[in-house]
Amino acid sequence: MFMAKSPMDTLHFSCIQIAIALLLFTQAKSTTEGSTSALHPNDAIPSCVAGEKSALLAFRAGLSDPANLLSSWKGDDCCRWKGVYCSNRTGHVVRLDLQGNGQALAGNISSSLLGLHHLRYLDLSHNRFDKVHIPEFIGSINNLRYLDLSGSLFVGSIPPQLGNLSNLRYLNLGYISDNTYSTDITWLSRLTSLEHLDMSGLNLSTLVHWLPSVNMLPTLKVLRVTNCLLKNSPDSLLLSNLTSLETLDLSENHLHKHSRPNWFWDLTSLKYLYISGNGFYGPFPDGIGNMTSIVEIDLSDNNLVGMIPSNMKNLCKLESLVSFRNNISGSIAELFHRLPNCSQNKLQDLFLSDNNLTGSLPTAPVESLSNLNQLYLSDNKLTGHVPVWIGELKQLTTLDLSSNNLDGVIHEGHLSRLDMLQELRLSDNSIAITVSPTWVPPFSLGIIELRSCQLGPKFPMWLRWQTHVMSLDISNTSINDIIPDWFWTAASSVMSLNIRNNQITGFLPSTMEFMRAKEMDFSSNQLGGPIPKLPITLTKLDLSRNNLVGPLPLDFGAPGLETLVLYNNMISGAIPSSLCRLRSLWLLDLSSNNLNGSITDCLVNKYSTNMTDLTLSIVNLSLRNNNLSGEFPSLLQKCPQLIFLDLGHNQFSGALPAWIGEKLSSLSFLRLRSNMFCGHIPDELTELVNLQYMDLGYNNISGSIPRSIINCTGMTQTRDNDDLRDAFTSGVYSAGNELVDYTENLTVLTKGQERLYTGEIIYMVNLDLSCNSLMGEIPEEISALVALKSLNLSWNNFNGKLPENIGALMQVESLDLSHNDLSGEIP
Ligand SMILES: *[C@@H]1O[C@H](CO)[C@@H](O)[C@H](O)[C@H]1NC(C)=O
Ligand SMILES: *[C@@H]1O[C@H](CO)[C@@H](O)[C@H](O)[C@H]1NC(C)=O
Ligand SMILES: *[C@@H]1O[C@H](CO)[C@@H](O)[C@H](O)[C@H]1NC(C)=O
Ligand SMILES: *[C@@H]1O[C@H](CO)[C@@H](O)[C@H](O)[C@H]1NC(C)=O
Ligand SMILES: *[C@@H]1O[C@H](CO)[C@@H](O)[C@H](O)[C@H]1NC(C)=O
Ligand SMILES: *[C@@H]1O[C@H](CO)[C@@H](O)[C@H](O)[C@H]1NC(C)=O
Ligand SMILES: *[C@@H]1O[C@H](CO)[C@@H](O)[C@H](O)[C@H]1NC(C)=O
Ligand SMILES: *[C@@H]1O[C@H](CO)[C@@H](O)[C@H](O)[C@H]1NC(C)=O
Ligand SMILES: *[C@@H]1O[C@H](CO)[C@@H](O)[C@H](O)[C@H]1NC(C)=O
Ligand SMILES: *[C@@H]1O[C@H](CO)[C@@H](O)[C@H](O)[C@H]1NC(C)=O
Ligand SMILES: *[C@@H]1O[C@H](CO)[C@@H](O)[C@H](O)[C@H]1NC(C)=O
Ligand SMILES: *[C@@H]1O[C@H](CO)[C@@H](O)[C@H](O)[C@H]1NC(C)=O
Repeated sequence: MFMAKSPMDTLHFSCIQIAIALLLFTQAKSTTEGSTSALHPNDAIPSCVAGEKSALLAFRAGLSDPANLLSSWKGDDCCRWKGVYCSNRTGHVVRLDLQGNGQALAGNISSSLLGLHHLRYLDLSHNRFDKVHIPEFIGSINNLRYLDLSGSLFVGSIPPQLGNLSNLRYLNLGYISDNTYSTDITWLSRLTSLEHLDMSGLNLSTLVHWLPSVNMLPTLKVLRVTNCLLKNSPDSLLLSNLTSLETLDLSENHLHKHSRPNWFWDLTSLKYLYISGNGFYGPFPDGIGNMTSIVEIDLSDNNLVGMIPSNMKNLCKLESLVSFRNNISGSIAELFHRLPNCSQNKLQDLFLSDNNLTGSLPTAPVESLSNLNQLYLSDNKLTGHVPVWIGELKQLTTLDLSSNNLDGVIHEGHLSRLDMLQELRLSDNSIAITVSPTWVPPFSLGIIELRSCQLGPKFPMWLRWQTHVMSLDISNTSINDIIPDWFWTAASSVMSLNIRNNQITGFLPSTMEFMRAKEMDFSSNQLGGPIPKLPITLTKLDLSRNNLVGPLPLDFGAPGLETLVLYNNMISGAIPSSLCRLRSLWLLDLSSNNLNGSITDCLVNKYSTNMTDLTLSIVNLSLRNNNLSGEFPSLLQKCPQLIFLDLGHNQFSGALPAWIGEKLSSLSFLRLRSNMFCGHIPDELTELVNLQYMDLGYNNISGSIPRSIINCTGMTQTRDNDDLRDAFTSGVYSAGNELVDYTENLTVLTKGQERLYTGEIIYMVNLDLSCNSLMGEIPEEISALVALKSLNLSWNNFNGKLPENIGALMQVESLDLSHNDLSGEIP
């Protein structure tokens, strides 16, 4: 069961897993190496056995080695070749370490390897043996103790011959490729010395009883079967052989069963247990309480409910409890009370974001948390104040309390001893952060998320000392102040910067181009002055709803810009041709400014050398409510992906060009309201099959409605609008929140009222031709536009009868035909 994940949570969670995986890997590797008497190839004594040298050369001959990894494989002493290790006692090759790292070997594995009779260790991981099967003869390398084929891109079935490797201690078949599978693993049961088994990513979907084969391996310490499409996991092992098992990773399978009983709760030797992403449901299992060796447990992304069991108090070795996205409920105080309380508190990581925890954080310090590094409690239902004892958790690197109902004040006392803190996340609470303007924090944060906390009215001075921040969100924090100059220096390395929705005044600095941000949201403030050259790294910028003046920059300076949102400012002048250099731009909203002049045609763009093949990526373009003039912009011929176009409330004039139908074939929303367009509605316009919204109201359009309007299936069929949604929302996710949170709005005149449509505009189907000089009969074809919700033909010169079938427009909520010369009966 996969829940909507907030990206940051996922990030942390996987980093931890990787770190653990690496740790375990190193451990496993060193113990296995210790058991061979391998020697560094530079040690003098042995020289190569002749037969083994020719076996190695034959092996190399089958390989393709584009990166020349085996260039050292020459000369007599094969014990000195890269990746070849000989026993310093016998001189035999005992180990081949041919792990590919970015650069990789490919080709065929020659059976000449069988000539290495003393080979104990074979690592072929992370090479590119794609399209090749794992050779069956590997099962005949009798002395093998260690075999690593992970990530080697072999395809097909795992050969059961591997079951002949009765000396094997370590077997890694993890994530070999997407097309590796096994339909029978009974051969495993013959590997009775096996200590480490990784089959992650192997397609084991056909296996029903997979566990009995594994249960034949009494020495097994590590078992990893994540992402194996396993569907079955028995309630118990009547007789368990797995008494040495320390690591079990069952995560991301399809077990979908009750949390108990389950065979693994009986494995009291377990130190690391990962069962996330399996659709386990039911109460938080009390079997955990018997796992007294447990160091780390991850139960995330299941549907566990209830409180953690009280017997967890005994888990004195527990370092990490990970349970993102479950439904743990009950009071946080009770949960803390049930955490291990031992002479030495080992607990380092407590990950409980996205659960159903309630109540206040306890007022007295919680002894079990005294060594905590990371505390994630976001997206629960916590209330009350943040207690001051949080400030005594001196090892704390991450404090995440966001999206709860916490209130009260956080002051220096909460923060002054958190020297190690790297991430402070308190967004979406009613917390006020009140510190003295002279306070110097002891920490240097990488992530600051304080959205909707109360930081103002003064600009928070302590941010001055936070010069290594990657992500800063102080949006909606009641700051009512001028932005200090130091801020731009302190924030110069921030990648995601959000100060939206405050009352911040001041100018954007001329040095802005030297910042390193990818995303900036300064919208809804009172920033003035012109827009300077932008950071070269910038992809998303929202400066809407400020007091910006002056012309747009002649050189935007951000070649990768994707969204540029500048509506509701006082930007003046013409739209510069430098816009044509923004080849990735897909959302441009310049509406409600003072722009004037006609829209540049990029053919005369001095910045680009060859404009004949120019195409822009623009999908959503809004220029409404400016003073733009000239003809319908011919630049739009270069915008084949345009879906939404709003030129309303300007002074555009001239006829609508016929090329709209051909060049803007994706167009769904066309709004030209309140301009001075004249001439006929070109027939070609009705080639826009997706057109569902056409507003030509308040222009000078003459002629009649083309009968081919029936070809606009956007108006004849109610479509599935999900594909449209992306065109209207910027969909930028940053730290789980939409940064540059853009929703297109339109006002539609229906039932005599201007009505504001926000996100739901995608469902609006509208034909508005009001206040023009159209004439003739209203064509019968109009009544085929049955998806219409609003039809306004008022204030024209239509005459004749109403279309017979107009009653077929069942979805219409607003129909206005007034002020025409229509006659006859209302059908
Ligand atoms: C082999 O080399 C290792 C490491 O240099 C050494 O510790 C070991 O004693 C040597 N074994 C023999 C048999 O020489
Ligand atoms: C691997 O074997 C196949 C089939 O025998 C052959 O076509 C291919 O050339 C071989 N590849 C190399 C690198 O020798
Ligand atoms: C190796 O295993 C296969 C299949 O499991 C078996 O048929 C074969 O006899 C074994 N070979 C040897 C040499 O043991
Ligand atoms: C896994 O294997 C089964 C049966 O061999 C196959 O039907 C299925 O498509 C495979 N799944 C994936 C994701 O490869
Ligand atoms: C435990 O392992 C031994 C050795 O592989 C095997 O003989 C025995 O059948 C196993 N017991 C169970 C219950 O599988
Ligand atoms: C925990 O172990 C005790 C003693 O072995 C046993 O009685 C109890 O049933 C176990 N609890 C669970 C939940 O497995
Ligand atoms: C928690 O429970 C609610 C209500 O039963 C359910 O809608 C939601 O999906 C559950 N969440 C998780 C993460 O299991
Ligand atoms: C934890 O242990 C200490 C010392 O044994 C004890 O004073 C305290 O009450 C315990 N806390 C909880 C929550 O059980
Ligand atoms: C969440 O907690 C509330 C209050 O404790 C409880 O009524 C509700 O059933 C819980 N929801 C789930 C899905 O556990
Ligand atoms: C511009 O590009 C077009 C199409 O790629 C090409 O035919 C033309 O020769 C180019 N013109 C110049 C001046 O490079
Ligand atoms: C609708 O489009 C088709 C195909 O482009 C065309 O043949 C037909 O004449 C059009 N219908 C009307 C009423 O113009
Ligand atoms: C759309 O309307 C909402 C609600 O009034 C407003 O917050 C938002 O800024 C508007 N978006 C645009 C692009 O005007």
